[in-house]
Amino acid sequence: MSQTRTPNILQVIRKGHPTLSSRAKEIEDPTDPEIREIVEDILATIEVIGPIAGLAAPQLNIPLRLFFFQVAPHRTDDGTVIPLTLAINPSYEVLSEEKTLAWEGCFSLPHVMGEVPRYKHIRYSYQTLEGETVTREAHGFHARVFQHELDHLDGITYVERMTDMSRFGYIEEVKEYMIRL
Ligand code: NI
Repeated sequence: MSQTRTPNILQVIRKGHPTLSSRAKEIEDPTDPEIREIVEDILATIEVIGPIAGLAAPQLNIPLRLFFFQVAPHRTDDGTVIPLTLAINPSYEVLSEEKTLAWEGCFSLPHVMGEVPRYKHIRYSYQTLEGETVTREAHGFHARVFQHELDHLDGITYVERMTDMSRFGYIEEVKEYMIRL
């Protein structure tokens, strides 16, 4: 990898684009330098986009099984803070059938948000760029972000997970009339 390579800023694709409804491919070798270059491009793009809870490669029209996620201090609901983390070939198992509802948004569906049921307690695994496997348990918002991003790798956006479409709307109106703060 050249030291002088300048990362590319990538375009976020929106719902309706076929990549967002397709299953992304497994990454055979997470240590492949080509994967590192893709990750550098995604990181540079995140710097331009601003603070994120997560961004999955298919949202940048890269049909590979990886995403970034984080739990910022102002988003945590159980004290767990996760710095911006890359997850390659992620998976999870459900540790409790219990689900909770919470509002979600997505860069691939700008201006709107919806209330989505997600498993409350999961154990997830992913690989790093060094090819190591990381496993941990997650609750609440932390578990929700992981499920949202993993869905992107399976061609699913949050609206397909919604069970009550009356709990969907434009961000400004939802915040004014629907979310009780
Ligand atoms: Ni999303």
